[in-house]
Amino acid sequence: EQKKQTDQRLACMEAAKNYYQQVMRQGEGKLGLDYFNQQRGLSDELLNNYALGVAPEGWEGLKKHLNQAGFSEALQIELGLLVKKEDTGRVYDRFRNRVVFPIRNTKGHTVGFGGRVLDDSKPKYLNSPETPLFHKSEELYGLYEARKQPGRLDRLLVVEGYMDVVALAQQGIHWAVATLGTAASEEHLKRIFRLVNEVVFCFDGDAAGTQAAARAMQTLLPLINDGRHARFLFLPAGEDPDTLVRKEGAGLFEQRVNQAMPLAEYLVSYLRQDLDLNLLDDQARMAQAARPLIQNLADGLLKRRLVSHLQSLTGLTSEDLQAEHLPIKQQTY
Ligand code: UTP
Ligand code: MN
Ligand code: MN
Ligand code: MN
Ligand code: MN
Repeated sequence: EQKKQTDQRLACMEAAKNYYQQVMRQGEGKLGLDYFNQQRGLSDELLNNYALGVAPEGWEGLKKHLNQAGFSEALQIELGLLVKKEDTGRVYDRFRNRVVFPIRNTKGHTVGFGGRVLDDSKPKYLNSPETPLFHKSEELYGLYEARKQPGRLDRLLVVEGYMDVVALAQQGIHWAVATLGTAASEEHLKRIFRLVNEVVFCFDGDAAGTQAAARAMQTLLPLINDGRHARFLFLPAGEDPDTLVRKEGAGLFEQRVNQAMPLAEYLVSYLRQDLDLNLLDDQARMAQAARPLIQNLADGLLKRRLVSHLQSLTGLTSEDLQAEHLPIKQQTY
């Protein structure tokens, strides 16, 4: 019974995905297709590989189509395809007049969608809400497609956006995945390390991207061990992977990836920023900031190297850097 319900949900999402693809290939979706082809430089082959589509402009295109195919409105609402206005009871398509990115789980089943406007209107992106099929903090956009590529997957590039993933793939870099407008969660990172031992984070070259990197670094620390490597690629101001790879091509972009900053290097530069380590005050400040990070890092070679490096940098002792009685997180139960 449970399985039947899941199958029904998956079938409905699949039908929605097919509908958006069909709209893109027909008259109504021409604008969206042009947007993908011309504004974003995406080939038809790429559009097919990622099953990209277009949601039409009207309020009920998808609803009518899925109703006709025999899916109940209740199901479509549960899956986030339709929105029900609580006050009026009106039921209409969530994604309208947007290009659409199906988010597929590792089995290739569509579990959610992201949709982008074709102009500068707001909100730029709309995503499926949490549903019985779709859990934002677990899914990685592009992972199914990356795994489908022939050849061994030995590293993954984590980027911010749908467009970054498909632009990189268009240029031949098929191993990028995106979190869905959220921070990289522990779930995301665990999933990544079940597949590969090397991950490179590449967020946008702006303040939000810098913050996302710092957060990712902190989420990462408990998961790092001597066999796992994480690095950080910082982009020039104003660029994101999409704009940069289209500007300079896959070769140069991949060079940047290969030269990305290793985790410990980044951690140290993060700790040092805005500090003058000749000053006693700043040394103490750095020790304060370092403790929770060091404490989060699993025991191993990297941790020992890091502590000894920070010691030589500051003259602090190992105890200064690893005081035991400071709780990192205030747990509330
Ligand atoms: P960005 O603002 O960096 O957009 O958001 P982008 O991916 O570069 O988009 P383009 O190039 O203008 O098309 C990064 C990611 O954050 C989420 C989306 O997942 C987006 O891909 N986001 C952004 C939202 O969920 N909602 C928004 O309104 C904006
Ligand atoms: Mn959930
Ligand atoms: Mn951004
Ligand atoms: Mn961006
Ligand atoms: Mn972008």
